[in-house]
Amino acid sequence: MPLVKISEESIRRVAEIISGGGLAAFPTETVYGLGGDAYNPAALAKIFEAKGRPRFDPLIVHIAAVEALECVADTGLLDGAARKNLAALAGRFWPGPLTLVLPKRDAVPGLATSGLPTVAVRIPAHDAARRLIMLSTGAVAAPSANPFGYLSPTRAEHVLEMLGDKAGLILDGGPTTVGLESTVLDISGGQSRILRPGGTPKEAIEAVIGPVAVGLVAGESAESVPASENGMASPGMLKSHYAPRVPLSVYGNDSPGAMPNQPGAALLFFDGASRDAWLAGQRPPVNAAAIEVLSETGDAIEAAARLFETLHRLDSSGVERIHTQLAGDKGLGAAINDRLKRAAVYPQ
Ligand code: TXA
Ligand code: MG
Repeated sequence: MPLVKISEESIRRVAEIISGGGLAAFPTETVYGLGGDAYNPAALAKIFEAKGRPRFDPLIVHIAAVEALECVADTGLLDGAARKNLAALAGRFWPGPLTLVLPKRDAVPGLATSGLPTVAVRIPAHDAARRLIMLSTGAVAAPSANPFGYLSPTRAEHVLEMLGDKAGLILDGGPTTVGLESTVLDISGGQSRILRPGGTPKEAIEAVIGPVAVGLVAGESAESVPASENGMASPGMLKSHYAPRVPLSVYGNDSPGAMPNQPGAALLFFDGASRDAWLAGQRPPVNAAAIEVLSETGDAIEAAARLFETLHRLDSSGVERIHTQLAGDKGLGAAINDRLKRAAVYPQ
């Protein structure tokens, strides 16, 4: 079984595997990553292969300290304003769930960046992750350790179930704390732009550098599904992202009452009050196979930490479909809703 608890010895083993051109999975504060040496094109090719990920979807390069940034990014190519933003953002959010898109150094193979002149970089807020990066080559490319399109892993067991022996070793650090991937912010051009909402809320970024635009990551937007107009698209035909195997539908945060009392279905409420209001509005019996809540008190941080874990569990529980209430759109709610809408077969 390639699952090992965190220790200095197991961290060294993971670092050796990665330095030797192999792959290993490890925890970060956001989700588990499938890591390979960011400077080694053969290792990068193995990552795309193991995930079944299209090569047009670039990888995030993880470093252990801000001093290593110039090894992978050429910040001298940024204009003055962007350099100031970089210093402010790195000072405030690194280590942490913020990935910055910056001009790339030649040392980073084009395979890591899908041929883009930019590289996405972050410093994870996880001691074991930073230590293994330091002990390997100092730059570890690591996408989420799941097959492309499927739910992200927030536990070592998720990685084992989904990737099996494709990860040479899985470093088990227990459940991740943030539970959602990092926010991807492009500061390489004129206007800073969020390409993927995530663990660092837009409001927190704007408090540091002022207004940012919100756009889409090229790879992810190509794979995500636009809302079908009549809701009748065939689930099997859809290419979605962050998705469970069973169909998932989403409902507005303020309209949980619309969630159907359907046999075989799991109902996932954002907060306890919405569940209670839904139950009060039902004529018994309650037919739903499972009723769950992401956060009793409606705390988006708690809900984010439990989102993928709850979806993994419901997905393997034998229910036929999942109906989910969206979060409110503020703070981490925006990232939760981004993941749920991309996972949805019948988005609203
Ligand atoms: O929290 C995370 O970010 C996790 C952990 C393991 O660190 N990693 C992760 O990686 O989510 P991945 O590969 O699943 O997502 C990387 C995202 C994709 O949306 C990709 O399109 C975007 O980053 N990205 C990478 N390089 C880029 C670039 N040069 N320009 C624009 N977007 C980029
Ligand atoms: Mg991913």
